[in-house]
Amino acid sequence: MAQLLQACGPDHFTDSVACKRPDNYFRAASAGTLPAVIPFHVAGKPATSADVLTVRHPYDTRVVGETSHATAEQVEEAVAAAVSATGPAAALTAAERAGALDEISRQLGRRAGEFAALITAENGKPVKWARAEVARAVSTFRWAAEEARRFSGELQRLDTDPAAAGRIALVRRVPRGPVLGIAPFNFPLNLVAHKVAPALAVGAPIIVKPAPATPLTALLLGEIMADLDLPYGMFSVLPVPNERMAALVADPRLPVVSFTGSGPVGALIQDAAPRKHVTLELGGNAAALICRDWDDLAFAAQRIATFGNYQAGQSCIAVQRVLVHRAHLEAFTPLLLDAVRALRTGDPRDEATDVGPVINDQAADRIEQWITEAVTAGARVLLGGERHGTTIAPTVLTGVPAAAKVSADEVFGPVLVLTPVDSDEAGLDAINDSAFGLQAGVFTRRLDLAFEASRRLRVGGVIIGDVPSFRADQMPYGGVKASGTGREGVASAMTDYTEPRVMVLTGVAL
Ligand code: SIN
Repeated sequence: MAQLLQACGPDHFTDSVACKRPDNYFRAASAGTLPAVIPFHVAGKPATSADVLTVRHPYDTRVVGETSHATAEQVEEAVAAAVSATGPAAALTAAERAGALDEISRQLGRRAGEFAALITAENGKPVKWARAEVARAVSTFRWAAEEARRFSGELQRLDTDPAAAGRIALVRRVPRGPVLGIAPFNFPLNLVAHKVAPALAVGAPIIVKPAPATPLTALLLGEIMADLDLPYGMFSVLPVPNERMAALVADPRLPVVSFTGSGPVGALIQDAAPRKHVTLELGGNAAALICRDWDDLAFAAQRIATFGNYQAGQSCIAVQRVLVHRAHLEAFTPLLLDAVRALRTGDPRDEATDVGPVINDQAADRIEQWITEAVTAGARVLLGGERHGTTIAPTVLTGVPAAAKVSADEVFGPVLVLTPVDSDEAGLDAINDSAFGLQAGVFTRRLDLAFEASRRLRVGGVIIGDVPSFRADQMPYGGVKASGTGREGVASAMTDYTEPRVMVLTGVAL
């Protein structure tokens, strides 16, 4: 950010603003000087508007920074520019696309500390998890560079039929057109990277709409991209209020919409854009099942405690439902409670903090209400249940009725629901007994059971021997049922952003 703020003068803006120039944004912010209005990016150029968006720290509500909402005219400028970039973007060589992606990866690595501090400031995620997110984004872009180099198409022989003798087909994938990427607040960098990197890799222009609570990290990424030699209109990063998104979602000039966020909003997007290629990464109430054969209960307890509470449970694959074979219940329960108790709750800027705040008061209110609802319906609080401001104490509930929201819906908070099951099969059924189907974790060492789980579970991914929260950024990632449609993971998204184009050659022999 410092680089951009130092470079900016009124002539750099599509809309002129008074630009303050602290040497370093965070130094200025912590010194108590007024934060500058941080520009967003319209077709790669910095821009602002009079409609200021103030970003506050979820932990103590202090002002992290200010940016502004893109006006309707600025949105139109970005869309028109993306359309005009379609041809030049598709014509970029593999070396140019991969080179840009490698450069973003390098810059993220070089500025990792700055990014991690910003993620913690606007999202409230403990700094150690923010660092992990930056490291993942470094690898997401690096992986996309490698995929861009491999992205070739295939030769298909057609002389399998006598009538097609002398013909061959070249099948390549070409961009469907400009992409609209709508990102959530829970990974302000890496889930933006999962929209941007595949677009650059295939040569598709992209307009990114960051989450209203966490736009600044995406703007900092935009600053890095603005320094690259990309076609005009190749990317825009636009803070647009959710209420003004309907027109952009429905705009026929943006044929691909990639959305990560809540189920109700995903459904609205699908309804608003029935003729578009829409990918939806929605929520989940991920389960971990500890099977009869699993012998390392301490490991399972530690992993479940950590990944039920990382980022205060604000990940679509955070453990929510803990299903334990009844034979292990007595030994496992105290191990789990000890592991959860050992997590340190507090200021996310503190290196020692494991669990920070949730994103805002409304989220904390909702989680608190869901816990109360479950307890009223007969659940027992084994641990936690308290709230201090936006911080919910890591909570373990048992005896939760299946219909209680804290079990049946996505809690997106640091809450574990512990339930015994009478057999491994009953455990698999319980995992499937959900409106969602994103990922599941199955603690077993039995190969036959691993394959059975993979066969029977209606989810996008099954993690054997670990929690459902494992994700490598190159693997296909997404869900079934209410968890969405389409897959992210760099190569999968590249497939989603493109369509096959066939060229048949005549009069040639293979
Ligand atoms: C998500 O919350 O869906 C993303 C999880 C991840 O990338 O680890």
